[in-house]
Amino acid sequence: MDSSSDSLDHNSGVGKHHAQFEIGGLLIELCVSFWKSRSLFVAAKLDLAVHLLDGSKSVEVLAELVGANKESLFRLMRALSTIDIFEQVSPRVFANTPISHHLAVNRDIHAVIVSEGNDNNYRLWESFCDTVKSGKTNSVERVFGVPTMWMAMQADPKYEEDFKKSMTALTNFKVPHLAGLYDYSKFDTVVDIGGSEGILMAELLRRYPNIKKGINFDTPTVISNNKRRGLRHSDDERYHDVGGDFFEHVPEADCFVLKQILHDWNDQCCRDILQCLYRSLRPYGQICIYDSIVERESPVYGQACWVDLHMMQLIDGKERSEAEWRDLAESAGFKVDKLIANELVVLTKKHSLQ
Ligand SMILES: C[S@@+](CC[C@H](N)C(=O)[O-])C[C@H]1O[C@@H](n2cnc3c(N)ncnc32)[C@H](O)[C@@H]1O
Repeated sequence: MDSSSDSLDHNSGVGKHHAQFEIGGLLIELCVSFWKSRSLFVAAKLDLAVHLLDGSKSVEVLAELVGANKESLFRLMRALSTIDIFEQVSPRVFANTPISHHLAVNRDIHAVIVSEGNDNNYRLWESFCDTVKSGKTNSVERVFGVPTMWMAMQADPKYEEDFKKSMTALTNFKVPHLAGLYDYSKFDTVVDIGGSEGILMAELLRRYPNIKKGINFDTPTVISNNKRRGLRHSDDERYHDVGGDFFEHVPEADCFVLKQILHDWNDQCCRDILQCLYRSLRPYGQICIYDSIVERESPVYGQACWVDLHMMQLIDGKERSEAEWRDLAESAGFKVDKLIANELVVLTKKHSLQ
């Protein structure tokens, strides 16, 4: 028996040893993968790849350009080059690889890395074991001293800006697909609840000329920051920005869209939001919820389960299964009308005649 078949025979003594060695290595690799995540984040934050777009540079030049210590920067880039992010083309001289080039030119991906890999997320995950043991997260309160993430962002404009850029980046490439999942042409007034920069609303108006009025609704802080930063993704006169609180009151409409809103909140808060929407939804109106439907047959089941942990730890939110969506809808006076492509739940009022 040659050594390669030996190592594949996991029942033999040597095979078992090899298999355990490989599994051990895999577990350790998983455990320390945050080193790579942190390194990628720092490379993105310093925008190293952008500085290499016009050709390779020595680490001394790069350190000067990004304001870094040249020895530390060398060690960072050398490590990243082992996973194909940057290439050391000659001693202490680095160039972009296809992966780092992508990081330089795809500003949507760059925005997601800068936001998702940021220091706040690391601090917010510190108490994860407590969350699993107690069933309750205290991360936002512990790290920021306020009850919700949205309040923390109101107090920190850079945090809010990076987060919104990341949400827009994650939404940008999906917007045409999402807008096409449902026929919005039957609605007069559509409100995107928690619409952030308003790109989904802009796309709905572009695609459905029958919509008479489209409102991008978010907190007064987000709406006024959008205005201050000149962020308006639609010149359409049917487009409106409105600031408010979706626990208190929302503009009257015959369709509410909620994209990645309810997964931010626990069941009680979701009920409060849905009941608030109920009061402003016209009798035959509908609510279109773009969130995961966590079912094992779903092609994005794994991704949904991991995002669910992030929601649980950060903000006491959750991704929901079909049965959980039905229960939640029912408890707020709605029923599930349609489930579309594992990513859209459509609700109608329980007692409205369709
Ligand atoms: C996860 S983001 C989703 C943004 C957008 N729908 C998307 O998918 O890109 C949640 C949004 O809800 C907004 N939000 C949070 N609490 C709110 C409240 N009480 N009233 C209105 N908007 C709120 C936040 O400002 C944020 O823009």
